[in-house]
Amino acid sequence: MRPTVARKQDLRSNLAERFREVRAHSRRLAQPLSDADATAQSMPDASPAKWHLAHTTWFFETMVLKPNAAGYQLFDPTFNFLFNSYYETIGERHPRPMRGLLTRPSLERIMDFRAHVDQAMETLLGADLGPEVAALIELGCHHEQQHQELLLTDILHLFAQNPTRPAYRDPEPVAVAPTPGETGWATFDGGIFEIGHDGSGFAFDCEGPRHQVLLQPFRIADRLVTNGEWISFMADGGYRKPLLWLADGWAQILAHRWEAPLYWEQRDGEWWTMTLRGMQPVDPTAPVAHVSYFEADAFASWAGKRLPTEAEWERASAGLPTAGNFAGSGRLRPKPAGTEGGLKQMFGDVWEWTRSPFTPYPGFRPAEGAVGEYNGKFMCGQFVLRGGSCATPEGHTRATYRNFFQPDKRWQFSGLRLAEDA
Ligand SMILES: [Fe+2]
Repeated sequence: MRPTVARKQDLRSNLAERFREVRAHSRRLAQPLSDADATAQSMPDASPAKWHLAHTTWFFETMVLKPNAAGYQLFDPTFNFLFNSYYETIGERHPRPMRGLLTRPSLERIMDFRAHVDQAMETLLGADLGPEVAALIELGCHHEQQHQELLLTDILHLFAQNPTRPAYRDPEPVAVAPTPGETGWATFDGGIFEIGHDGSGFAFDCEGPRHQVLLQPFRIADRLVTNGEWISFMADGGYRKPLLWLADGWAQILAHRWEAPLYWEQRDGEWWTMTLRGMQPVDPTAPVAHVSYFEADAFASWAGKRLPTEAEWERASAGLPTAGNFAGSGRLRPKPAGTEGGLKQMFGDVWEWTRSPFTPYPGFRPAEGAVGEYNGKFMCGQFVLRGGSCATPEGHTRATYRNFFQPDKRWQFSGLRLAEDA
């Protein structure tokens, strides 16, 4: 059935509303930041906040406005070079590790760039959009939400390098939570199951096609691994026993002298950690965060368990509401598990490392043109994480969502849930 005129207008105003909300949220995230905060880059993996604000705008300018808005005037022709992230089809770009050297353009000029693009987008959103253009705008909104999470994790990393350990948001004492009980286990039968996105509603290309997988019977923990459990692992020499570690992980230990999760430091015999609310005592009841795949895997070996595969995780999460401690809660830190029954913390708190490499699903084809570079070219050397974190925007993730990072990365809100063969 072809959409009626009224239905088309509805879809268009929903998209316009969503565009405005996403764009306004990025401005809110930037509010506590000075131009200096937004300019510095703490490591090649992280980008300055100013760069995130500009790059997400460049995405709309390049992918949506240039090809589709007749007479659109570029805000500044140098910005294509400065704010292209990794699109080879679009051309040469400023080297990623040098993004923090861009003291100009100023934060104010980036905000003017945003306003210029927003205005042109409003005109376009008021016109009769074809489905391809609408899909690109939708992609641009989800893309910007991904960068909203990165903006927070990159600011956390930047502020952690400052000896005064500044807080992005007002420090807030950690609420005292009851110590979570022993881990419970949910058992799942083996068999042939379907995973992947079914094409209804938005999903990134790498989430599909939906396809069959063969699973052996398995058990999955009903909650995330806690800081308290991580302290036991450390106290038992977890970081000093090579037999627990993958060879590549042990090489990281030797090279970087890891002995605790990223951001942890000892003060008078107590563990503290850097958070978006400044330095805080490590809460033993909260989920551990900022651990690499290598650390998650070593912990699982120490516990006599393993990490779940992404198919196991997706099967376990089927039918659960996509609700949890996301960025919208304002907490900006992982939260201890509640006492309710069933699987807890599947969504929000920390991204959960799975033991599955990020590879194409059967039948996967990247899109034509530049947006085809979005995910497909990263399907080598990275592991899938599931579920979203306390820095993920509300409504951004879903059961089929596949996040991915290299196994040594620790600056995201990454943690783990254990699994085992049943
Ligand atoms: Fe991007």
